[in-house]
Amino acid sequence: MPRTELGLLRTDELVTLLALCRELACAARTADLAWIQSRTFGDPTVTPDLMLAAYQDRILVGFFIGCVRGDLGVIKALGVREGYRRQGIATRLLDEMEARLAQRGVTSAYAGGVGPNFFRPGVSLRHTPAIALLMRRGYTTGREARVDMQADLAETALDTKPAIARLAAEGIQIRRAEPDEIETVARFTLEHFDAAWVSEVIDGASSSDPPALFIAYEGDRLVAFATHDAIGPAYFGPTGTLPAYRERGIGGVLLRLCLQNIRAAGHAVAHIAWAGPVDYYARVAGARITDAYWCFEKAL
Ligand SMILES: CC(C)(COP(=O)(O)OP(=O)(O)OC[C@H]1O[C@@H](n2cnc3c(N)ncnc32)[C@H](O)[C@@H]1OP(=O)(O)O)[C@@H](O)C(=O)NCCC(=O)NCCS
Repeated sequence: MPRTELGLLRTDELVTLLALCRELACAARTADLAWIQSRTFGDPTVTPDLMLAAYQDRILVGFFIGCVRGDLGVIKALGVREGYRRQGIATRLLDEMEARLAQRGVTSAYAGGVGPNFFRPGVSLRHTPAIALLMRRGYTTGREARVDMQADLAETALDTKPAIARLAAEGIQIRRAEPDEIETVARFTLEHFDAAWVSEVIDGASSSDPPALFIAYEGDRLVAFATHDAIGPAYFGPTGTLPAYRERGIGGVLLRLCLQNIRAAGHAVAHIAWAGPVDYYARVAGARITDAYWCFEKAL
């Protein structure tokens, strides 16, 4: 058996890493080079010493991508090329990752999605070997599933005109955001939703000109937003409506406006990663669950 050498991933290997991640279904379904860049060398929490690579005959055969978020060591993605498995390569990479995380003073390793810039929301339930590896290595899971969904854009009714007119009569204005409003929406997500969404809103909004960002105002009060292409091309989200304004159809209009855009860009399906309100996406966009994930943790 050829010798396996461990090293650190180089910037010129990103294309190879992207291809491998696609092959192993570790990347978003529409991941491109910009996507992998933003999850690796472009993520300030991923320091180069936590991007571990394994080589045989100079071929990249395995990888573990880690980062530190607060006091948590996060394993963002892991994989070993088909044909090189059950040789202990992932075991060596995991040993190395755990040692490096422990050296950093983190007390817990987490194999799962942490926003922003996650690969997948967790370890896919289709990935039996990865789940078996983690369990054998003492990682535990609460078995709470995160899910991805997919909406078929050809079959989903995306008309928004009547709903926008009805909401306008109720004092709610819905429109596309101007470039100088992106910061306001980013602050809004920080104040009312999730800090991880700040950079996702900026990424999504900035993915097109005019911004891929739709907003709802009551007077001069921002009450809801939705964006797309933040998690990858053709990915919807994040989105949020203030609690007092929910169940009035505002989020549904913003969702359909985003889906119209995704369809206009030539995509036949839209993806919703780490979907929160599954029933809502099913009802408004005919979306269905495509992937389910568990997350794992181990004290170091
Ligand atoms: C998970 C993965 C990285 C394991 O790589 P590997 O180099 O084959 O792992 P190792 O040889 O170090 O295996 C270590 C242990 O994990 C467990 N394991 C690995 N593959 C397994 C399988 N197919 N079935 C059951 N247990 C398995 C075993 O306990 C194994 O020890 P053993 O060979 O002594 O029985 C590899 O299968 C893979 O790349 N899968 C696809 C990518 C993936 O699922 N990534 C996670 C989401 S991003």
